[in-house]
Amino acid sequence: MTHQNKFGMFIHWGTYSMLGLHEQALNKYQLNRKEYEGLINKFNPVDYDPEKWVLLAKSAGMKYICFTTKHHDGFCMWDTKYTDYNVMNTPYGKDTLKMLADACKKHGMLLSLYYSNPDWHHENAYNPNSSHQWASVNPDASDLDAYRLYIKNQITELLTNYGPIYTFFWDIPPKIDDTSMNEHIRALQPDILINDRGWDAGDFSTPEREYEDMEVKSFNRMVEACNSLGVQSWGYRVGEDFYSMRHLITSIDRYMAMGASYLLNVGPDGNGVITEEYSSRLLRVGDWYNRMEGCLECAEPDSFKYEAKHASPIATKKNGKTYLHFCDGLYADFVALSKYPSLPKRVRLMNTGAELPFSEDLLPEFSNKVGVAEQVFLHICGIPVDELESEAIVLEIEW
Ligand code: GLC
Repeated sequence: MTHQNKFGMFIHWGTYSMLGLHEQALNKYQLNRKEYEGLINKFNPVDYDPEKWVLLAKSAGMKYICFTTKHHDGFCMWDTKYTDYNVMNTPYGKDTLKMLADACKKHGMLLSLYYSNPDWHHENAYNPNSSHQWASVNPDASDLDAYRLYIKNQITELLTNYGPIYTFFWDIPPKIDDTSMNEHIRALQPDILINDRGWDAGDFSTPEREYEDMEVKSFNRMVEACNSLGVQSWGYRVGEDFYSMRHLITSIDRYMAMGASYLLNVGPDGNGVITEEYSSRLLRVGDWYNRMEGCLECAEPDSFKYEAKHASPIATKKNGKTYLHFCDGLYADFVALSKYPSLPKRVRLMNTGAELPFSEDLLPEFSNKVGVAEQVFLHICGIPVDELESEAIVLEIEW
């Protein structure tokens, strides 16, 4: 089993979205618990239309949606019988997860579920081993056996009542080994993929936010990276700061070129709307992604050791073609490869679809001290770098 769907929409949505502060507002803003939990009496997202979310994800080229069923505040976005602190007891009174699952099914979108281990509402949930326990309701009543049973019961609901689930996204490692948790998940949904933030190592790793290790060019296990369009928060935030297109696209390209999947997050508002500030950015990333024509999906690393002047591309292969990813763009409007397998038949710039001229040339700029260019480069020219300055540049080469 591989995580072959590369691009997914992460959705952080809960009663916290009404506040427009942060998905962890209860803790981060030290809110009054009674007032915060009282949001259950106000949650009425009359504009919630999950088909709109699914169609937005689809138009950005995304293949799956990962939805926060329960975040750290413990509020459940589905019809659960194990706590009253759930969406059925809001003025809205409808199973928001079921509605999303139906919309996904209708439009061929895969559904993944996020579930937080910390729970700031369940009285037994305090776990001294784990982080994010700050707003736990009662550290003295910690009973992790009772709480584990609660989680298992909820998982049974989540993995029984909402159709096939693509991946399971535990959040915040409990730092307690218990393989029975993932076994329980697999018994209910044998094809599911599970992340590494749960009770054992799971199937895939989940680096978050910024890409850090520029030296790494491939991963030794399945990876699903995640980031949000907004810098400060995963949930809807009024006055959010947003990443630049360049930052998002270069990071997505780098991760995907190394074989990772990528979850890009939006925070719908308290009415259930993915507002224009989020959707327009998502569509701009999607516009780039769609121009890549699926070359990032199911590609393999190309083992040839390419060398380029002033760039170090990541090379992948798909259907007999090589894709050179210049994740951070290019400093000039050409690429000069000093190591390449042979003269190509054809070179195409994925960003525009245009065929690019190329030839084997002596390039004086890169000659040795005596002033005579001795080396022949594969010189690929005419790349409109200035128009593509916020994009990762990808070349398709047919040898
Ligand atoms: C971090 C945040 C959490 C968010 C998660 C998404 O762990 O603390 O609020 O849900 O990232 O991966």
